[in-house]
Formats: sequence, C-alpha cells, structure tokens
Amino acid sequence: MATSLNLTLFPSQGVLVNPGLPGPARTLPRTKPQRRFLRKGASNLITAKFELKPPPYPLNALEPHMSQATLEFHWGKHHKTYVENLNKQIVGTELEGLSLEDIVVVSYNKGDLLPYFNNAAQAWNHDFFWESMKPGGGGKPSGELLDLIEKDFGSFDQFVEEFKSAAATQFGSGWAWLAYRASEKDKKLEVVKSLNAVNPLVSDYFPLLTIDVWEHAYYLDFQNRRPDYISTFMEKLVSWEAVSARLEKAKVQAAK
Ligand SMILES: [Fe+2]
Repeated sequence: MATSLNLTLFPSQGVLVNPGLPGPARTLPRTKPQRRFLRKGASNLITAKFELKPPPYPLNALEPHMSQATLEFHWGKHHKTYVENLNKQIVGTELEGLSLEDIVVVSYNKGDLLPYFNNAAQAWNHDFFWESMKPGGGGKPSGELLDLIEKDFGSFDQFVEEFKSAAATQFGSGWAWLAYRASEKDKKLEVVKSLNAVNPLVSDYFPLLTIDVWEHAYYLDFQNRRPDYISTFMEKLVSWEAVSARLEKAKVQAAK
C-alpha cells in the first residue's frame, strides 16, 4: 500500500517531517543548497522584475467549476501581491537575477522562512497551480503516468483518495502535491502536503500536480466547503496533460 508523506515544516527545527509514519517522525534529508542573502550596497536601481504570468486560459474559462470572480481575486490580487512584494524585497540583494525556482531553493532557511522565501514560493506555487488546470479537465490520465500511479498507489482511485485526503487535512493554509521522488532507488510518485508557502522544490521531490488549499482559493465559490472544492478540482479541472509533461521533464532531470 502506498504511503502518503505529510511534508510539513517543523518550525523549531525547520526540517521536513513525516508524521504519517509509525514511530518517531522521519527527517527528510535536506538536499538543496541553503544560503543567506544580504543586501548589496545601496542602490536605487530596480532591476529585479518578475512579471505576473497569466493563467494559460481566460479568467472565465474554468467556469462553472472555478468562477471568474475567484480568478480575478486569486490571480489578479493575491498572486499579483506575492510577485510585487518579491520584486521589492530582492532589489539590491544577491537574489536579484536568479530564477524564481532558484530563489525558492536558496532562500529556504531552517525554521526561519523569510519574507522573500514566502513570496517567491507563493509566486512559483501559483504559476504551477494555474498550469495544473485546464478548461474541460479532470477525468483520468493515460500512458506512463497512469501506469506509475497504479504501480505506486495501487489504483487511480486510491491515488485520488490519498490526494483528496492530503488536501482536506492540511491544517490551515497550504498545498497538496503529487510529486516524483527521485532520490529513492526505486523512484516513485508520492502525495505530499505542505504548510503555507513551502513546496517540494525545497526537498528531493519534483512537483507534478498541486492544489492550493488556502481559503482564498475556494471561499468565493465554495465558502468553507473545502472537500467540495477538492473534488471539483480533481473531477473537472486537473490537466493530466500538464502532469504528464512534468513527469517527462522530472525523469530527464532526475537522470542527470
Ligand atoms: Fe492561492
């Protein structure tokens, strides 16, 4: 039976633990470089500019499952704010000029998640989330992705149950993910969940699919009914083509 790792930040130690396994919580090895970044000399030049990337479909394209109003607030206000704050925070620092993904990885600090980590990770997470959906999505994957899901979770239905459970039980704000764990000898797919802005990039996972379970993601359409939002996401919105393409990329990167 597949194990669902709960990827949770343990604040006092800043490590990722797995409370889902029996016995003491397992510490996942930190495999990405960590550095602290200090401001460079005074500069008034604004050279760091991440753009707010639009979803790959019109803002009304996911209706009736995700409303235009939700997209207008979620992308047009929340996501926009993360990008704007990040641009302000990295001006004049050594983070300036790095890719968004690199900023997430190198700014992840033990138990001390600084504002630019949170904004960079949230900017990255939201790009990834919009691209995890498509109009007319849902259904079932095919090909190698389906084969791997069936191998690692027992069945597609079992995977869906595990993913829904991770998303529903993430206490407070956070994310649930399908991820490719490349460090294992037997590389495999796993369901993980993360708190606030943390994402699998900070560990040895390649993210393949995510759902945003911050309340701002679903309150306008579903109020407090998070499980209904999660079911709608899985049944009507997931872009399995995007997930398959990410799996292909992850396998190439993992082989390097
Ligand atoms: Fe969000």
